[in-house]
Amino acid sequence: MTAPAATGQRWTLRGAHTEYTVTVPAHGRWLELVAWGPHGVSDGPSPVAYDGPVPFLTAGDAAPIEYATDADRPFTGADLVVETATGERRVGFGHTGVRADAEQRELAVDFTDPVTGLRATVHYRVPAGTDVVQRWVELTNAGTASLRVVRAGSAGFCVPTPHGALLSHQWGQWAQEFQLAQVELGHGSFAIGSAQGVPGHLHVPWLAVRDAAEAAGPTWGVALAWTGSWEISAERDTGGLTRVRVGRQLVDGPLELAPGDGLTLPVATGAYSSDGLDGLARVWHTHQRLLAGERLTPRPVLYNSWEATYFAVEAESQLALAGIAAELGVETFVVDDGWFVGRDDDTAGLGDWTPDPAKFPAGFDAFIADVRALGLNFGLWVEPECVNPRSRLYAEHPEWVYAVDGRPITPVRNQYLLDLGRPEVAEFVHSTVDGLLRRYDIDYLKWDFNRPRTEPGRPDGVGPLDLDGAHVANLHRIYERLRRDHPGVLIEACAGGGARTDLAMAARADVFWPSDNTGPLDRLAIQYGFLHANAPHLLSSWVTDAPGLFDPRPRTLAFRFVLAMAGVLGIGADIRAWTPAQRAEAAGWVARYKEIRDVVTHGEAHLIGGPDQARCAVQYTAPDERRVVVLAWHTGRLDGAGLLPSRPVRLPLRGLDPAARYRHGDRDYSGSHLSAVGLPVHWSPTHDADLIVLRRD
Ligand code: GLA
Repeated sequence: MTAPAATGQRWTLRGAHTEYTVTVPAHGRWLELVAWGPHGVSDGPSPVAYDGPVPFLTAGDAAPIEYATDADRPFTGADLVVETATGERRVGFGHTGVRADAEQRELAVDFTDPVTGLRATVHYRVPAGTDVVQRWVELTNAGTASLRVVRAGSAGFCVPTPHGALLSHQWGQWAQEFQLAQVELGHGSFAIGSAQGVPGHLHVPWLAVRDAAEAAGPTWGVALAWTGSWEISAERDTGGLTRVRVGRQLVDGPLELAPGDGLTLPVATGAYSSDGLDGLARVWHTHQRLLAGERLTPRPVLYNSWEATYFAVEAESQLALAGIAAELGVETFVVDDGWFVGRDDDTAGLGDWTPDPAKFPAGFDAFIADVRALGLNFGLWVEPECVNPRSRLYAEHPEWVYAVDGRPITPVRNQYLLDLGRPEVAEFVHSTVDGLLRRYDIDYLKWDFNRPRTEPGRPDGVGPLDLDGAHVANLHRIYERLRRDHPGVLIEACAGGGARTDLAMAARADVFWPSDNTGPLDRLAIQYGFLHANAPHLLSSWVTDAPGLFDPRPRTLAFRFVLAMAGVLGIGADIRAWTPAQRAEAAGWVARYKEIRDVVTHGEAHLIGGPDQARCAVQYTAPDERRVVVLAWHTGRLDGAGLLPSRPVRLPLRGLDPAARYRHGDRDYSGSHLSAVGLPVHWSPTHDADLIVLRRD
């Protein structure tokens, strides 16, 4: 039931340790933040209220507005900009109703623009047991004329930053994703986004904000659940408030909203921790584990044949790899790109998803049966949204790709992008993948996406103009259908590495491939950034060969294994060439991983030090606190390690009981010692990483 408008009233949403309080001021034109932080934070003068003079601005430009139209904030930026068919703007709302649940976990506040009839419901939800607030907006055109949504932000988040704002963000490129960086924002704005129709390699739809005087204290985060084009900006005003705007980027132009039409904007999620970026990472982990629901189980150890055979996939070599993988303790064998007709390199084949009989002369079924006979589950790579011009699919359906006016289409990796917003293309993509899963005995899919969208149109020019929205909506639907119909199949989301990681995918895929770069020290930085925004069950990681494709700095096999064990362990090396000693070592690591992966999946993570510091470790504490798993890496030069007189590196552990005893072999530490002084690790040229499991009595 909708309650009538209630100006002046406050509503508090309660998370596990946090609260988020909003109010509609007496004028009823907008919703305002009162406070966002630990329980009790709303009990006092609002840290974000501004009641000083606003010379040359409007009151709305300085107010901590939750969802602002351009009438509210004519100068400092609105979340929503809507125009009429004749190009007039300035939609301004009046508060019309509210719904709040008794548990203080859901709130919906209604507004209507009396001139155009546009309605907006601003939604809030705090999932039980978390410290995140999910926010989204439903727009309805209840007027009589068409409207155009010019800017479609999902939310504005207000953060008090009286001493300046420290922004943490993640930048990257292919093979160098998730680079964690910090920017100090005194005044003005900072913006990141993607116009590529995919979250992209360049930035992650994630931002953290804290006050410049608080190095490791209260930290706020924002992330977007949208698998297309997006934007996040942060602007700090002269009054010391940083306002983060987050939402879709309307790359295809304004969205048409005919009378009676509705539009739901993607969920923007805010997170709060009083424990710095590291604490914020745990808030995100808890949220994503909840998104995974019943599917949050330790992932199988996999082998992926990409780096061993590239496109030269054929039954014999794959079975040779599978046989060795099984001996090492691998559980799922994944055949990557190259298994289907016409796919001998990256210039042809995409679109024709039939196993190549020349590569599997006894049949694909027989091949899969042979893999299974080794005791392995079977996985397959697909990239169903893309097509090579040299393929049967493109010859039959050239109209299915994004294109403009008969102009040349921009190829990326020799391929075009299918227009997934078209119902017949969505049907093709779904039935292709669904058909493979029904036809063959498959337990695991790696779903790739190796190009952004370049063309802003479709050849016949018909259909919805919101190509980005239609593509993303159908992608999500297909993932959901596949999960429903094939609940036992795990799906790894990949986009030329980590270009498709957002909260919407975290709710639909089981694991992410974060980067094609598995070079040890590069990978360390990638994983370190990734884990700040994503839970360990989403982190797919392979042990590959030295020196590797990207990072030739020498590291031991142990380093590579301990690194991959920080998430979901896989092997991507050419294990046919491994010596018996290497295979024995690998089998040992795989066995150890199986002992700790429940702690990696469910444990509380602490990111200690960093890839550019002498201390670098990830700590996972089991939910029952009886085991503390520490994965640690030597980040310095390997040749000189341990040769000069030195003391051990100490890794200060976190969240331990100071009075408890923690054992590791014949060592016995107090929790107090491990927290205050740290766990000692010694590095040498042959010992550059460690997995230490501390057991609590
Ligand atoms: C992308 C992926 C790789 C591999 C290749 C196959 O680059 O990120 O892991 O699957 O495609 O072509």
